[in-house]
Formats: sequence, structure tokens, C-alpha cells
Amino acid sequence: MLNFETTHRSRRLRSSPNLRSLVRETVIDVEDFIYPLFVIPGTGVRREIGSMPGVYHLSVDEIVRECRLVASLGIPGVLLFGLPPEKDELGSGAWAAEGIVQKAVTAIKKQLPELIVVTDVCLCEYTSHGHCGILENGRVLNDPTLELLVKTAVSHAASGADIVAPSDMMDFRVAAIRSGLDDGGFSDTPIMSYAAKYASAFYGPFREAAESTPAYGDRRGYQMDSGNRREAIKEVTQDIAEGADIVMVKPALAYLDIIREVRNLTTVPLAAYNISGEYSMIKAAARNGWLDERTAALEILTGIKRAGADIIITYHALDAARWLAN
Ligand code: PBG
Ligand code: ZN
Repeated sequence: MLNFETTHRSRRLRSSPNLRSLVRETVIDVEDFIYPLFVIPGTGVRREIGSMPGVYHLSVDEIVRECRLVASLGIPGVLLFGLPPEKDELGSGAWAAEGIVQKAVTAIKKQLPELIVVTDVCLCEYTSHGHCGILENGRVLNDPTLELLVKTAVSHAASGADIVAPSDMMDFRVAAIRSGLDDGGFSDTPIMSYAAKYASAFYGPFREAAESTPAYGDRRGYQMDSGNRREAIKEVTQDIAEGADIVMVKPALAYLDIIREVRNLTTVPLAAYNISGEYSMIKAAARNGWLDERTAALEILTGIKRAGADIIITYHALDAARWLAN
């Protein structure tokens, strides 16, 4: 007869560090990370972002230095955001041949050809109104915006970007960008689509960093509603049909169920974006002595991977790479 007091005692496998690591199901690795970077005009500029301790605004020369560090830590890639010298109604800085991101990509790829450079494709850092598309009577126009996103993605690819990552949440932008890239001679450039991107309060620190807070209104007319799960399946399915090579769920922490849902849905690689607010909360709490930064951050990164993410975009990447190395 089964004696439940002696059959399955789960604690048997928790009794030593070696036993625990032997049976550990999820292990995060530096190779899972992509590190986001913010490039600004100028030279020799390295300015810490107030809302994101440990993250900097970097001029092109400084970003190349930072990328050397990223590569030396074994992190395979970076995700670039740009702050242009000037903004306008249409966000023309986004697709300028000599734009800030274009210059940074060229400089990084020249020095570090192996490092994967992903570029965020959106207009909100470049528009005077801070919205992710063309604004008319307070509404963001979908189809006219596509043309500008295509120009932006193609100019990133032309500068040497390895992957383009549209984050605007306009409908059909993956299809439009795919055909624009193909026509431009970039049929080998993959698209990482921010497929299920929710309207989130946790973007707050990023918008300070990217100076991209909408001047009026919010992004709820194009980003997803946080209550929706089935809609994420629809968005992801559609983006894959349009040609997305990698799909992303964003944010990560309030959406771990969506990460799992998407993992179970599709076989394409899945990225999760551990966003600014998620990072800043940990930093703030750690600075107050309320929790241990290292243990908390590694626990979060493990949770995101356990939920099903193959790729984790995180501001913790540099620290985590060091922690994992010893
Ligand atoms: C731009 C964009 C945003 C983020 C990535 N790309 C902000 C937004 O949609 O307002 C957020 C990244 C972060 O919070 O770390 N569309
Ligand atoms: Zn945007």
C-alpha cells in the first residue's frame, strides 16, 4: 500500500545547491538578452536617465563604447532608440538617411560587425506631438502612417540594422514593412514585431528617457487594452501571417500569461520586453533597501523565460550578465 509519508517528499530534491541546479527546469543565460540603448546627438555625451538609474543617453561615439562592453559580456544584441535633434509633425527624423539611429547603426556595425543591432521602428520619438503616427483631428491615421514606417524600416536596414522591430501597433505594418524591405533589396532582414503591445502605465520612465510622452491624449487608440487575452492571439496570428519572423509580448510582468499563451500558440521565436517601469521599480526598491536587486532581478528574468520567452529585452542585461558570470 502507498504510504504518502514516504513516497513523494518533494524536499528531497531541494536539499543542496547541486541537487537544486540538477533539477532546475528554467535557466537564464546571457545569450537570451537584448540590451536597449538610447542614442542622442553630440559627441562624448553620457548622461544618466533620471527615471532609469544605470541607463544612459549616449552620443554615437559613446554608444559604440557601450556596445563594446555589451559584446564583451557575451550579450548577443542591442535594441536602439533615437532622440533626434529636432522633432516635427510627421517625425521625419525617423527615416532621415543621416538620422540619429542610422548614424549609430552604421558606427556600431563598423566596429562590432558580430553584434546584433535591432532598431525600434516607430515615430513617437520623432513627432512633435509624441504619437506613433500621423495625427489628424486628434486621431492617429493608420494607413498613411504605414508609408512612413516603411521608409523608416528601410532606412534602418540600409544603415546596416540586422533586425527591424516595429512598435507602433498600426494595423498591417508588418506586411507593409515586409514588402518595403523586399522591394528595397533587404529580403534577408528579419522583422521582430511588437505583436501584442499593451497600453501600459509602466512605459512611464521610457517616455521620459525617449521624450515621447504624447502631448495630448494617450495611446489607447492603437495599443492593446490590458484586459484582453484572446486579442493577443489574434494580433500575433495576424503578424505571423504578415511575415513577422519574431513576435514580441510587451510589457512582460503584468502579461506573463500572454507570454505563455503565445508560446503555446506558435513555433516562431518569442521575445518579451521587460520594460522601463518594471526595471525602475526594482531599482527604486533596491535603493531604498526594500529588496535585494540581484536576487529580485534574476527571479523576474527567470519568470519571464519560464513563461515561454526565448529572447528577453531588458535594462538589467549588463548587471545580469555579470551576475550570471560569477
Ligand atoms: C515606442 C516604444 C515604447 C517602448 C518601446 N517602444 C513606448 C511607448 O509605446 O510609449 C517602451 C519601452 C519601455 O518602456 O521600456 N512606441
Ligand atoms: Zn511609438
